[in-house]
Amino acid sequence: MPDQVFKLTATSKILIRAVMQAIQTPGKLLDLGCGTGIVGISLANAGKATFPVYFSDVSEDAITYARNVAFMSCKECVAKAGSLFEPWHGEKFDTIVDDVSGVSEPVAKLSPWFQGVACDTDRDGTRLICQVLKETPDHLNPGGRLFFPVLSLSDEKKILSCAKDHFKQVRILAEQIWFLPPELHNHLELLQQLSKEGLIRLEWRFGKWCWYTQIWEASND
Ligand SMILES: C[S@@+](CC[C@H](N)C(=O)[O-])C[C@H]1O[C@@H](n2cnc3c(N)ncnc32)[C@H](O)[C@@H]1O
Repeated sequence: MPDQVFKLTATSKILIRAVMQAIQTPGKLLDLGCGTGIVGISLANAGKATFPVYFSDVSEDAITYARNVAFMSCKECVAKAGSLFEPWHGEKFDTIVDDVSGVSEPVAKLSPWFQGVACDTDRDGTRLICQVLKETPDHLNPGGRLFFPVLSLSDEKKILSCAKDHFKQVRILAEQIWFLPPELHNHLELLQQLSKEGLIRLEWRFGKWCWYTQIWEASND
């Protein structure tokens, strides 16, 4: 796998599990910010999507990788490179799983997760996810739903306020606490500064600095 392709993390697994539990009837599914394609492939293989399954990512390398894996695993897939909804003009889906980079940019640069991976998110981590929240209603079929992670290494309040601006129903599906990895702990001063500015949220729990992932669902029914 090329270095520039985002590697599966524990957040990917929580996202997959939460969406799997939330989907009762399979529909046309878009994995937005797909990286390796693990989210869409797992959901399709669990019978939670119809075929073809749709994938996109800003990274050409990610799309080449996802297309090959998805083709071997799901057979029918449409995978396109491009930023956010740019590859999907006029296209609508029943399920959109957004996992586009959503971590404060200075934090992402220091983190073990985003080395060589695009994370053009601003200091508060919200630029891409807020744009996705704004554009998603135009890409959902009636009754369609958006699933997205919100990380406390971004401005969660701003993201949820954007979600409520564009969707009638917004509900949390899952939450997970994590210890800060050593790569970020080594830069605690910067993280505490961002936390003081209200741009990220850290909590002292179990004798360690911790952060959170939440999985949210949004719809306009
Ligand atoms: C957190 S990773 C998620 C990857 C995958 N879902 C997973 O769990 O392994 C974020 C992905 O968003 C992609 N990305 C960053 N900026 C983007 C943009 N403007 N449009 C589409 N994808 C973008 C990155 O290339 C990366 O693959």
